[in-house]
Formats: sequence, C-alpha cells, structure tokens
Amino acid sequence: MKLNELRDAIENKTARLAVIGLGYVGLPVAAMFAEAGYNVTGVEILAERVKKINAGISPIEGNEPGLAELLARVIKTDRLRATMDYAGLDDRDVLLIDVETPVDDNNVPRYDALRSAIKSLGPVLKEDALVIIESTVAPGTIKDLVLPLLEECSGKKLNQGFYLGICPERVMPGKLLKNLSTLSRVAGGMTPETSETMIALYRHIVKADLDAADCVTAELVKTAENAYRDVQIAFANEVALICEAVGGDVWKVRELVNKSPMRQMHLPGAGVGGHCIPKDPWLLAYGAKSKNISLRIIPAARAVNNSMPLHMVKLLEEALAQAGKPVLDARIGVLGYAYLEDSDDTRNSPTRSLVARLYELGAQPVIHDPWIPEYDGDLFERIKGCDAVVLMVAHSEYRNLDLKKLKSVLRLPILVDGRHVHDDIGANEAGLKIYSVGKG
Ligand SMILES: NC(=O)c1ccc[n+]([C@@H]2O[C@H](COP(=O)([O-])OP(=O)(O)OC[C@H]3O[C@@H](n4cnc5c(N)ncnc54)[C@H](O)[C@@H]3O)[C@@H](O)[C@H]2O)c1
Repeated sequence: MKLNELRDAIENKTARLAVIGLGYVGLPVAAMFAEAGYNVTGVEILAERVKKINAGISPIEGNEPGLAELLARVIKTDRLRATMDYAGLDDRDVLLIDVETPVDDNNVPRYDALRSAIKSLGPVLKEDALVIIESTVAPGTIKDLVLPLLEECSGKKLNQGFYLGICPERVMPGKLLKNLSTLSRVAGGMTPETSETMIALYRHIVKADLDAADCVTAELVKTAENAYRDVQIAFANEVALICEAVGGDVWKVRELVNKSPMRQMHLPGAGVGGHCIPKDPWLLAYGAKSKNISLRIIPAARAVNNSMPLHMVKLLEEALAQAGKPVLDARIGVLGYAYLEDSDDTRNSPTRSLVARLYELGAQPVIHDPWIPEYDGDLFERIKGCDAVVLMVAHSEYRNLDLKKLKSVLRLPILVDGRHVHDDIGANEAGLKIYSVGKG
C-alpha cells in the first residue's frame, strides 16, 4: 500500500491502527481512534494494565472526565484490544508510539523504552506502514535515532518500505480527552506527503489546527513549548521570592502585571512536577549539547523550580520557629503527593523533594493524598496531632477544606500554603496562621 493508498484507507477508516504504550497519552489516543471507527491494537508491556484495559477498566485513577466511559464503550465494540504481543502488529497500517521518554540524573534523555519499542516493532512492521512517534523527544532524535534503528530492525528503507513522522502530544492529566480533541498539533513528517497523510489521520480526532512541518520543527516546537512554560513558572517563582523579601504579595502583583499588554505572568508555587515539564527543557537543551552552545536560561529555570519544595520547608521552619517549635521531631501533615491537582500522577512530584528534606531535618512527615491509594483515607484522622500542615497540591478536597476542623486537629495553628488555595481571611476566621509562597 503506497502513501496515497494509505491515505485513502485512512479516509475510509479501513486503515488498521496500533498504539504502542498505553499510559496517560497512549490509552486515550487509542480509545479515541477506536471511537472514531478505526480498528486499534494497543501494545503495552505491563500485564496488569493490559488485563484492565481489555476488561474495559481504565488504569488511570485520577479525575479524567469521560475516559472510563469511553474505554468501556470501545472495548465493548471490539474496536480496541490491548496485548503484550508485538507479533499481531504485522497487519497494522499506522503505528503510533507513545512510550515514556525521561531524562536521567544528568539530564540526558533515556530512550530505553523508545528503543525497545522500535526493536520489537521492526521485525513485524508491515510493508509501507506509517510509523508516528507521539512521545516527546530531543530535536534530531527522529533523524539520528529512530530512523536508523527502524531501518536496521525492519530491514526496510524510509519512503520505500515504511513512512515516518512525529506528532507530539500536548495533553495534560485531568484533561486528556478534552486536550486531545481541542488542542492543535504539529504533524512532522519525513516528507511533506507524510505530514499530509498524518494530518488526514489526526483530522478524525482533533478539532483544531493541524500544522504540517518537518520532523525537527515538530520536535523543537514540543520541547520549546514546555521549556517556555518552565521558564515562565521560574520567573513567577523568582518574583514570589522577591515579594516575600520586600513584603509584597505576588498574587496581587501578578494580577496587576497581567493588566499590562502582552504580559502573562504564570503562577508561582511549591514546585513543578509531572513527566513532561521538568524534563522537556532538558530534551530541548540536549539538541544543542554537541554544538557546544552555552545555555543559561533553561538550566537556571530548572534550578529555580527545583528549589521551590525546599523553599516550602524554609517557610515551614520559619513558621515553627515563630511558634517556638523546632523542626526536629515535628510531625508535619503534607497535603498532596501527586504533582497536579485531582490527578494520581506522582512522577517528579515536588512533594517527594519536600518529604526527603523533612526527613533530613529529623521531622516526621505524614502524607495525605485522596488520589493515591497509599496515602488516601480520612484527612483529619491521618493528620490528627500534627504540629503543622503544608499544602503542596490544589486537590479539590484541599480547596474545600474545613479550616476550623483542620485547626482543631493540629497542635499548632500553622498552614503553609504552596498553591494559594486559602486566603488570610478564611484562615484568620478559623484561627489558623497562614504562610503562603510569595507573601511577605
Ligand atoms: N503525561 C503527559 O501529560 C504527556 C503530555 C504530552 C506528552 N507526553 C509525552 O508522551 C510520552 C508518553 O508519556 P505518558 O505520560 O503517557 O507515559 P506513561 O509512562 O504514562 O506511558 C507509557 C507507557 O508505555 C509503556 N511502555 C514502555 N515501554 C514499552 C514498550 N517497549 N512496548 C510497549 N509499551 C511500553 C509503559 O509501560 C507505559 O504504560 C512521553 O514522551 C511524554 O513526554 C506526556
């Protein structure tokens, strides 16, 4: 099937699809294409995940509007089936790869999952299939890593035996389906015809702009958009620290700054987490490593954002000191272990750094998170007798917290708020003293 025939098959939905990696990104993508009428095979290395998906149960525990229902629906239609076995992919016309792409402790991309997926796929790749990487990768990775590896493992040649492109995802946990259908995407193909074929495919699930580009542009756009966000958050965090030092209120400052044209100051807070924002700036930077270009803003932003959980500990120490309580042996209620509100995603959670620091100081953290089975349960029961609480994540449960009840279970009336969830008035009424990031 040549590219124009593949495009026809995509248009009339006879093209057979596969999604490799059924995590936060791959699962909703697979389910949406199945809902759109395609036959989709999902490949996943975690047996438990495969079992759950085939039973129509979403393995994603956070508040993900519509996903559980969509999955149950498409599994019933038999248009989506999950498997651990790559062998069955030999009849697939389009293959999307959605595996994780983290960085290591030295901020170097770790493409083990991507390499492994390509190595497993190569030997069964159908003649003239279209392979689309949806994972986020450093600029140049499609050309320098994916292409040669796929050619080697498949024994086929680009544009003669298979087609290749990258269409990075822009989703965020908590809005997976909504983001997938309403956010624009960049379809980077190894040729313009490949980009156009990719657009013909995504048109069936995306109701927003689909922009054709080459692969390196698509790689750059994805990593730059997340690096942009990281840098903006770092700037807001730095202004927050200045506000604390000079007796300002960063929330008021931000509101008024944003009244000035073309200013969009981001939200400061207790830190940045998740699979993407903490590592995508490093992926962007990695592209320039071999060229010896000195990068300053991206590493500095990372350092500022990484320091925020430790800054939360500093605010806590000051609050305890004011109450005459040393941090050593203090029991500290820690609200939220996910990295994002109403999500079960704990990857690169800022709370992990905060908790590690509390242990270093000899404090006893008591963690609560309604979305993480290890830490869920009744909040007040869990933190009863704690000396203070630190709010790390703006989960709905913490937004709607009964502050009077909170005060009644604490030894000291201390709430350190890293997400600007509660204000002075509510805290005062409850008899709590509130310490917020960015308020001097
Ligand atoms: N999570 C997000 O919000 C988000 C947003 C946009 C882009 N992305 C990017 O999308 C990619 C996937 O992210 P994610 O959050 O879905 O990760 P994830 O860890 O939730 O999902 C990846 C899945 O791939 C599976 N997997 C790993 N190796 C495999 C293999 N060889 N064969 C089959 N399955 C394999 C894993 O078991 C896992 O279930 C990453 O590159 C990420 O940067 C993520």
